[in-house]
Amino acid sequence: MSGSGSLVLSIESSCDETGIAVIEDGRLIRSNVVASQVALHAPSGGIVPEVAARAHLRWIVPVLDEAWTDAGVSWPEIGAVAVTYGPGLAGSLLVGINFAKALAWVHDVPLVGVNHLEGHVYAAWLHDPGDDEREDPVFPLVALVVSGGHTFLVEMRDHLAYRLLGSTVDDAAGEAFDKVGRLLGLDYPGGPAISRAAEGATRRDRVFPRAWLGESFDFSFSGLKTAARRIVLEARADEGLPDPEVPLPSATVAELAWGFQDAVVDVLVTKAMRAASAVGARSIVLGGGVAANSALRARLAGEAEALGIPLIVPRPSLCTDNGAMIGAAGARRFVAGERAGLELDARPSLPLAGR
Ligand code: KG4
Ligand code: ZN
Repeated sequence: MSGSGSLVLSIESSCDETGIAVIEDGRLIRSNVVASQVALHAPSGGIVPEVAARAHLRWIVPVLDEAWTDAGVSWPEIGAVAVTYGPGLAGSLLVGINFAKALAWVHDVPLVGVNHLEGHVYAAWLHDPGDDEREDPVFPLVALVVSGGHTFLVEMRDHLAYRLLGSTVDDAAGEAFDKVGRLLGLDYPGGPAISRAAEGATRRDRVFPRAWLGESFDFSFSGLKTAARRIVLEARADEGLPDPEVPLPSATVAELAWGFQDAVVDVLVTKAMRAASAVGARSIVLGGGVAANSALRARLAGEAEALGIPLIVPRPSLCTDNGAMIGAAGARRFVAGERAGLELDARPSLPLAGR
């Protein structure tokens, strides 16, 4: 990438965040603006696709204005427009794609399509101005991506070259966090709420089941979710609070949140470390919204250090959905010669694939 000096304008709208960024040399964040819809979806406890698409339409122009002003750039400096084209919600993806196409066409700039999942991996290469000390990932690496819609382990021996080692066979880890958060009566989204509640746990001896799936690098979280429902009902019976409308005492919620989080983190970290050893990884990369979880970050950091493998984890706001990560991946694809035509369409189930 070095030497191209090129700026990429990148757009992310696959789910419930409208994100636009300007990225220099595939790494340096010149600006990164995210409009979150969390407050909008909180009353329904989950994302409503039509509401999400309409909110992207409402926010995409103001988000561009702010990203543009923050970066202080002009169109002749922009080398490409990168946009997420999958996986994600079709209506949400289409807002970003059509906006990107219009910008690329009007300003006569190449368009590059980016896979949202590779964006989560490429967040590991991003750095803020003045943050030159930050280490870049080194190949071969193992990346663990844990988000609301996806959970997988992938090996990379070069840029844009992916070998899937394992993925969830049912729910994503973030989805399990969100559902168990609801069971515990916590705010939406459940992930950050469980993380906060778990920090306050004084008793740390509640054991939730782990699905190891033998030696495989696949994950399963639906059994854990079912077990969590049973464990919460048992806790309610023990406390004499069978009515689900009556909140559990916050100390019990904290203990249960800790037990659930510990089970998820244990499986994620154990498999990631086993995968890193199996492929002789020289770096481990962690990404996706659940990578904002401090227990996961701390445990993986400890185990990676014990094995002497550098761990690269973006700061929490670059782990959850954002435009900068799409710019980092898009710049790599742009430099590799990839161009999308104006026929670029949304691919809601797009798999992670290399070049
Ligand atoms: O990557 P992301 O922003 O969107 C998707 O691509 O899915 O991930 C969102 C997910 C949600 O399930 C949310 O609960 C979870 O990331 N999450 C967390 C934390 N922050 C966000 N899960 C656990 N601990 C957190 N601190
Ligand atoms: Zn995501």
